[in-house]
Amino acid sequence: RPHIRHYHEKVLDHYNTPRNVGSLPKSDVDVGTGLVGAPACGDVMKLQIRVDDKGRISDVKFKTFGCGSAIASSSYMTERVRGLTLEEAGKIRNTDIARELCLPPVKLHCSMLAEDAVRSAIADYNKKKSKRPLTLGQDA
Ligand code: FES
Ligand code: FES
Repeated sequence: RPHIRHYHEKVLDHYNTPRNVGSLPKSDVDVGTGLVGAPACGDVMKLQIRVDDKGRISDVKFKTFGCGSAIASSSYMTERVRGLTLEEAGKIRNTDIARELCLPPVKLHCSMLAEDAVRSAIADYNKKKSKRPLTLGQDA
């Protein structure tokens, strides 16, 4: 298995000790849920964000049914987006994650799952927010 040696310590660390594994209550109005799949391999990632009244991500959880690089990418992504605004979080590219974790080119699609999952969670949050009654809505 010669490709193993290409893996950076950081990948193994996030793989062995994934951060922020779990779920947030999907029905909460301030929670956005992203669920995405990688067509190349069939791996699936769920990532959820909770957004505070200032429009910042206050909590984030993930569950990944996939390879080690996908697990490491989602774990890393959850640490990265906490405290960011939705706009900032939506700008994180999979190539940033891949570079940070030193993923080999064949594993680029694994980090793409994490980018897609965050954007999908943001889109879900925004969709829910636009449907909220005005009396409950936030201006931010
Ligand atoms: Fe190494 Fe799939 S586990 S390429
Ligand atoms: Fe498909 Fe990693 S091999 S997400």
